[in-house]
Amino acid sequence: LSDKFAVMNALRKKQISGTSESVEKFETGLAKKFDRSYSVAVSNGSVALDLSFQLIDLKEGDEVILPSFTIVSCLSAVLRKKATPVFCDVDPFTWNMTLENVIEKYTNNTKAVLLVHTYGLPAEAVKIEKFCKEKNLICIEDAAEAHGQDDHQKPCGSFGMISTMSFYANKHITSGEGGAILLDSEEMSLKAKQMRNLDFQKNDRFQHNNMYWNYRIGGIQATLGLSQINKLQKTISKKIEQGNNYINLLNEYQELFQLPLSGIRQSKNHFWVFGIVLKIEKIRDRVINQLLKDGIETRPFFYPLHLQPFLKNFKNSKNANLEISKKLGLNGLYIPMGDHINYKVQKQISETLIKTVNKLKNDY
Ligand SMILES: Cc1ncc(COP(=O)(O)O)c(C=O)c1O
Repeated sequence: LSDKFAVMNALRKKQISGTSESVEKFETGLAKKFDRSYSVAVSNGSVALDLSFQLIDLKEGDEVILPSFTIVSCLSAVLRKKATPVFCDVDPFTWNMTLENVIEKYTNNTKAVLLVHTYGLPAEAVKIEKFCKEKNLICIEDAAEAHGQDDHQKPCGSFGMISTMSFYANKHITSGEGGAILLDSEEMSLKAKQMRNLDFQKNDRFQHNNMYWNYRIGGIQATLGLSQINKLQKTISKKIEQGNNYINLLNEYQELFQLPLSGIRQSKNHFWVFGIVLKIEKIRDRVINQLLKDGIETRPFFYPLHLQPFLKNFKNSKNANLEISKKLGLNGLYIPMGDHINYKVQKQISETLIKTVNKLKNDY
């Protein structure tokens, strides 16, 4: 109800444009929630990554370490800057990049690390941030999937020079579409605001010193986002409950699936999604199709970035040995979660999943 009320109020007060007061309020709310001095809200999480890489000082050919097992937006942001992506692998159990994975790919040409949290558990943010400081590397954190998560009690969204967030419809804080960067430098935040808004000037509005673009978020989205910040804890509690239900329902079938960990270090898994990895290889797509026929919509895991078709001409020997990312990408899927699902439905989904995998396993 509060979301609806907030949105209706934004409409009533005509707070709809990207330059309305509601955007500033959303930004203040975000900075406070995630322990940062500044926040700049933008149209989506991909744009937030793009903007972050535009803000930092990278030269053509500088290497940026990022996990292979993540969304394509991470890669595109690096490539748009003409920097060189160097993919690291991820841990087979947390599905997150670790410090060790980063160190494996570190060279004298490394200039930045993109620290991404995946599917509900925090990556080794404290360790990776410390390593970046020691080696004088820029650390950018992508906390799109980790709203409200932390590493050693420090909030995701507060690591590194800049953090990015997405508020797409499936995120724990959502504005339908939306994103933000979070940072501590006032100078950078002011620059980001100019970059978001076509470099309009206070005086001489239509004379532009820089060729920037329009990355604005709308006022209605910002209002919804602000209302959602207040509901974050409730959203996470629900996710944790559903995630633990699935763990209990599927625990006995570990010969069929690898399940997510329920926590790591002192952090509970928030189950942004509930992922499973099939232990029998090469049946994942058939499992997905069969489940769909039975009315259960699932999604495959991220396809590894180093194997993306558009990268086929991009050769870099550093992008070898990414076996875990590949295995996850080819055998992982995630199953339904959310407000529309109750325990009974979770039980039905689990039973259908077990039956389907058992059947396809025998056919194979
Ligand atoms: C880790 C991560 N980064 C960035 C994004 C991109 O966000 P958006 O869909 O808002 O562009 C996503 C989207 O799911 C994501 O999971």
